[in-house]
Amino acid sequence: MPNVAATIVSRLQAIVGDAHVLTAPADVEAYVNDWRGRYRGTTRAVVRPGTTQQVSQVAAACADANVALVPQGGNTGMCGAATPDASGDEVVLSLVRMRAIRGVDAANATITVEAGVTLAAVQEAAAQAGLLFPLSLGSEGSCTIGGNLSTNAGGTAVLRYGNARNLVLGIEVVLADGRIWNGLRGLRKDNTGYDLKQLFIGSEGTLGIVTAAVLELFAAPRTRVTALAAVADVAHAVALLCAMKQALGDRLVGFELVSGIALQLSRKHHPDLPDPLPGHPWYALLQVDDSAADAPLAALVEGALAEAVGDGVAVDATIAQSHEQAQRLWALRDNISEAQRREGPNIKHDISVPISAIPAFVDDTAAATADAFPGAQLVVFGHLGDGNLHYNVAAPPGVEAQAFLARTAQVNRLVHARVVAAAGSISAEHGIGQLKRAELAHYKPPLELELMRRVKAALDPHGLLNPGKVL
Ligand code: FAD
Ligand code: MLT
Ligand code: ZN
Repeated sequence: MPNVAATIVSRLQAIVGDAHVLTAPADVEAYVNDWRGRYRGTTRAVVRPGTTQQVSQVAAACADANVALVPQGGNTGMCGAATPDASGDEVVLSLVRMRAIRGVDAANATITVEAGVTLAAVQEAAAQAGLLFPLSLGSEGSCTIGGNLSTNAGGTAVLRYGNARNLVLGIEVVLADGRIWNGLRGLRKDNTGYDLKQLFIGSEGTLGIVTAAVLELFAAPRTRVTALAAVADVAHAVALLCAMKQALGDRLVGFELVSGIALQLSRKHHPDLPDPLPGHPWYALLQVDDSAADAPLAALVEGALAEAVGDGVAVDATIAQSHEQAQRLWALRDNISEAQRREGPNIKHDISVPISAIPAFVDDTAAATADAFPGAQLVVFGHLGDGNLHYNVAAPPGVEAQAFLARTAQVNRLVHARVVAAAGSISAEHGIGQLKRAELAHYKPPLELELMRRVKAALDPHGLLNPGKVL
């Protein structure tokens, strides 16, 4: 008689139907690679349940058969957290068929959505109700709410609205043993003990499977200004950020830093995009919103930027004159990742340090990198308003990109040592996955690691949820 693990595929077929259990190599191909092309695994099967009940039955069957599950949403993650290992034993649990918007409660300013709804679809549903769901990422057309919550995604509006975890009021989770925890509450105040939903948010599929969530909505912006400023260096970018916060208050939604090198890389691969302030070493991209339709926002931003240029804080600035121009400025910024992917592999860091420490961090790390890896190319950009930079290191000209990856551990230590010295974090928004597991073990205090392991053991005692990720 075949053992239970060997019969898991037929048990999964019985739960979700044959059409939603993929096993042929061509069918599973898109689920066993990551977006950056850094990881490749194999899988026993990809199962695509359509309801919370089916997710529950899938988890229970896998627990019974001692088969590990790898939850997956849009598969846009940056740390290999949704890629199965090479054993061929793990089952990929794709949530993409769970894409119902269960309801909008306009008076409560909440939306209840299933895990597989794309971020763009949630934004669209909120807009149709005259409200705003503010989470915003370059990957929003493909990434899912389940993935956003499980990675505690950040993006370009954190400065004003916070990370994904700040936008969640309730959550529905399937546990490792298949039981369903319905925590779909729409409450802004609830002090009835531990806030369990926050345990699952940011746990990268290692503690439970998110099947639905109640998300908080906000007043929709009726006036928006997008501006690009050129600055002499990162210290001036931080000074500009302080000046804009002072002048604009919480109308300042996003403040992104882009190096001249990163901007030109984006244009190299998207030559149709503009170059409105050519030839500067650093740029800041600002988004300013107001929920009042008649707010004199353009004049306010123009005045604040003119003052910054007059004071020598910024060198030059330009304001988008149309929605299309604004979109093209954002495309310059949002396409950097895609441009880097086309250039070939690079060593990516997603770091945060206190905003005040960013200029010294950037100068010191650039000097140390130049010393240790002469000619290495830095592609630096990110969410300066949150103290979060993507500090990417690519091979020197003439060195094969793949060969440079052999230096990853040394490059990581060089960058992360400076992050830790500045009281920062080695993962600001992308998570740990498999990419930064060794770095986490190296830098996280032993007591914190022990507490994390105890939480993992309590919720997933047999280690069947996304093994080999995070811890
Ligand atoms: P996946 O990649 O499928 O999975 C990510 C992790 O979540 C894995 O650990 C997986 O196991 C787990 N998971 C997925 N769904 C569930 C579920 N339902 N239940 C439990 N676990 C689950 N990230 C940012 O934070 N900020 C950015 O600005 C940003 N910009 C990006 C731009 C581009 C062009 C790209 C390609 C990516 C970007 N990302 C960014 C990274 C990525 O989009 C986010 O991490 C996103 O939240 C991942 O969502 P996903 O649905 O693709 O998740
Ligand atoms: C971004 O801010 O564009 C993303 O986090 C993706 C990346 O770092 O490549
Ligand atoms: Zn980012």
